[in-house]
Amino acid sequence: MTDGFSSSAASVPTSPTAGAVPRTSPFSPSEPGRIFADPAAYADPVAWHEAARRLRRQTPILRVSLPEYQDFWAVTRYADIMNIERNAEVFANAPVPTLMPRADYAALNDNNPPPVKTLIQMDGDEHKAHRGIVNDWFKPGSVKAMSDRIDTLAKESVDQMAAMNGRCDFANDVAMHFPLQVILSILGLPEEDHQKMLKLTQELFGAEDPDIGRMSEDSTVLDVMLDFVSYFTDLASDRRANPSGDLASVIANAELDGALLPDMDVMGFYLIIASAGHDTTSNSIAGGLLGLLEHPDQLELLQSDPSLIDNAAVELIRYVSPVKHFVRTCQAPTTVGGVHFVPGDVTLLSFASGNRDEDVFADPFRLDVRRPNASSHLAFGFGRHFCVGAHLARMEVRAFFREFLGRLQSIELDGEPTFVQSTLVSGPKTLPVRFNLQ
Ligand code: HEM
Repeated sequence: MTDGFSSSAASVPTSPTAGAVPRTSPFSPSEPGRIFADPAAYADPVAWHEAARRLRRQTPILRVSLPEYQDFWAVTRYADIMNIERNAEVFANAPVPTLMPRADYAALNDNNPPPVKTLIQMDGDEHKAHRGIVNDWFKPGSVKAMSDRIDTLAKESVDQMAAMNGRCDFANDVAMHFPLQVILSILGLPEEDHQKMLKLTQELFGAEDPDIGRMSEDSTVLDVMLDFVSYFTDLASDRRANPSGDLASVIANAELDGALLPDMDVMGFYLIIASAGHDTTSNSIAGGLLGLLEHPDQLELLQSDPSLIDNAAVELIRYVSPVKHFVRTCQAPTTVGGVHFVPGDVTLLSFASGNRDEDVFADPFRLDVRRPNASSHLAFGFGRHFCVGAHLARMEVRAFFREFLGRLQSIELDGEPTFVQSTLVSGPKTLPVRFNLQ
C-alpha cells in the first residue's frame, strides 16, 4: 500500500527529501504533536490512537513546532475539523494540502509551483470548474452503472484468494489488487497494465515508508515520472481520437472556457484518480478485515445478517480512516474551538482522530456494524473537497465483503500485522491470515 494523495500533492515535485527526515520517537511526552508528523507513529495505531485520545481531551487544538516539519496546529476534535472544512473561504487548500518537511515547505514560493496541479491543491472557482469535469461521472446514479463490473472484480479477487491454499498476506495478496483493478476499469485501461499502475502507485507515491517507496536500482523518481507522463499522454491522445464512455475519455475531452484542458491538468486528473482511488480503498479493505478479526462478534453478526453490509461498509471505513489528515491554511483572522488563527497558520485536520471522537461516536474504539451514525464519519473529509470517489469506494468495500463473507468458512490471524509508515494514507502493510474459503 502506498501514499496515494501525496502523489498528487506537493511531494512529487518538492519532496525528494521525504523519508529523509531524521526520526526520533514519535511518542515523546515533550513533543506530543510528533504523532501527526512522523510517519513511523502511524505504524503503531494503538499507541497513536491513545495519544490522540489524550490530546482530544487535554489540548484539542495543539500548536506543534518540531525541528524537521513545518509548524502547524493539530486539530483533533470532530466539531473543530468540521468547522474548518465548512469555512473554505478562510481555510484554503493552497499552498499545499498536506504536511511537509520544514525545508520543502520553506522552498515553496510562487516561482516554484508544482508542475502537476490536482483538485486537492485548488481552491475557489478553479477548484469548482475542475471538479465539475468529473463530478457527474462519480454521482451515485453513474457509479451504479459500474456495479456489475465491480461485483465481477470482487468475485475474481475472492476466487484468487480461495486458490491460495488457505494462507496469504491479505494486505498484499488480495486487498492491494482489487481496487487497482477497479481503477483500471473506470479509466478504461487494459488488465495487462495492472503491474504498471502498481509501480506508479508504489514507487512514485509510497515515499514515506522505507519498505514501499523504494525505487528499483536502475530507476529514479524522474524515470518513473517520465514513464507515466508518456503513458498518460498516450492515453489522453488515444481518447481524444477515439472517445468512449470511460473516465479517461471524459477527462481527455473536457473543455474549460472553450478549450481542451492543458496536458498537465489532464495528467493531474489521471494521477489523482490513480493514486487517491487505490491505497485508500485497499487500506479500508485490509484494515476492515483486521477490524472484523479484532471484533469476532461483529464478523459473526455480519455473516449471519448480510443485510447489514451497507452500514458495515461505512463503519469499516470510519474505523480504518485510511486518510489520516489534510491541511488547510488560514487566509483571514478567525477563531475556531477557542483558538485564534491568523493568516498563514497551517491547520492539520486529523480525520483519524475525529473519527474516534467520543463526543460524536459512542464507544468509538469499537467496530459496530450497526452503529446508527456511522455515516457521519470524516474519513472522506467534508465540504468542497469531500471525496469525489466516496460512492465508488463504498461500493467497492461493500462488494468485496459481500462476496468474501458469503464464502468465508473460517479465518484467523497467522502472525502479527504490520502497518504502513505514512502521515497521509496508512493501514495494514502486511496482514497474514489463515482461512477456509468456499
Ligand atoms: C475508502 C476510500 C477512500 C477514502 C477514505 C478517501 C478519502 C478522501 C479524503 C479524506 C479526501 C479529501 C477530503 C477533504 O479534503 O475534505 C478525498 C478527496 C478525493 N478523493 Fe477520495 N477517498 C477514497 C476513495 C477514493 C476513490 C475510489 C477515488 C476515485 C477513484 C477518490 C478520489 C478522490 C479525489 C479526486 C479527491 C479530491 C477531491 C477534491 O479535492 O475536490 N477517492 N478522498
